[in-house]
Amino acid sequence: MTEPSSTPVGPVLPGTDAPLAAGELVLLLDRKGRRYLVDLEPGAQWHSHGGLVEHDDLIGSREGSAVRTSKSMEVVVLRPTREDVVLKMRRGAQVVYPKDQAMIVAMADIRPGCTVIEAGAGSGALTMALLAAVGADGRVVSVERREDHARIARANVERFHGGAPDNWELIVDDVVEVLTSRRAHRVVLDLLEPWLAVPGTAAALPPGGIVCAYTPGVPQVMRVSDELWADGRFTEVRTTETLVRPWDVDGLAVRPAHRMVAHTAFLTTARRVPARDDGGPARRRRKADTGGHVDWEATDRARDAHASD
Ligand SMILES: C[S@@+](CC[C@H](N)C(=O)[O-])C[C@H]1O[C@@H](n2cnc3c(N)ncnc32)[C@H](O)[C@@H]1O
Repeated sequence: MTEPSSTPVGPVLPGTDAPLAAGELVLLLDRKGRRYLVDLEPGAQWHSHGGLVEHDDLIGSREGSAVRTSKSMEVVVLRPTREDVVLKMRRGAQVVYPKDQAMIVAMADIRPGCTVIEAGAGSGALTMALLAAVGADGRVVSVERREDHARIARANVERFHGGAPDNWELIVDDVVEVLTSRRAHRVVLDLLEPWLAVPGTAAALPPGGIVCAYTPGVPQVMRVSDELWADGRFTEVRTTETLVRPWDVDGLAVRPAHRMVAHTAFLTTARRVPARDDGGPARRRRKADTGGHVDWEATDRARDAHASD
């Protein structure tokens, strides 16, 4: 396992009262609640249908300050939260939403000091949550087999952090390969066929370590759960789904919002245990038979289409 790093680069914490500086990423909010991410650059201008704002008017101001555009529209400036960044940043692949990021960190018990291997890095959304959870003494190794996705993940993570975190490694490769030579406390899998990475995950995790697979469809849950039990080096194989329902609160009109992002994906977690002569912990369920006819690519396309609705 890799040694803990020195202090990583990190975004300025929102709410610290430090003036906004050139080079920082900020969030602009207009009166209609529209949100814009802007990289502050001396001499630059931000343009919108409601007029322009000089970046120099924002640099040196405090979070929460209101400025007026050239057309007198009021805009409030804040440091963005990680949620703001994840929902607005450029995407290569579909991202893990904050509700699921939080549950991954909780269910996989990802704490300061952990070394985590994640795959695929995709757009880097989950990477940011993992970096926050492991802290300066932890380490995140992100694996992505597509160069184009890796480039987007790197750009997003570095933009949010204001540089490359020195406790982060991004490897362009197949995670099945990478897991043969790495050790970690936790493995988080957000990829099409996580069951292919189960043997490697067992090799990378010490007993007690945790794997978490994020899968959009029921057949994938069945297959990865089967594979974890069948491997014989995992127990406590559990699946959860997280639904977060936003509410509208407006005077006496207080009710669930009409729209919500309901299903995104399932989380399947498992604990690594030592290999045993008797084949490992007893399975608690019958093996699922997918008949070998499941179109995993179609399942993934459906996830992307659903998420962009
Ligand atoms: C849904 S995206 C991951 C999104 C990412 N977790 C985020 O929050 O931005 C899935 C990614 O896994 C990558 N991938 C699929 N199979 C892989 C493998 N065997 N090894 C490494 N990356 C893989 C894909 O190229 C894709 O970019």
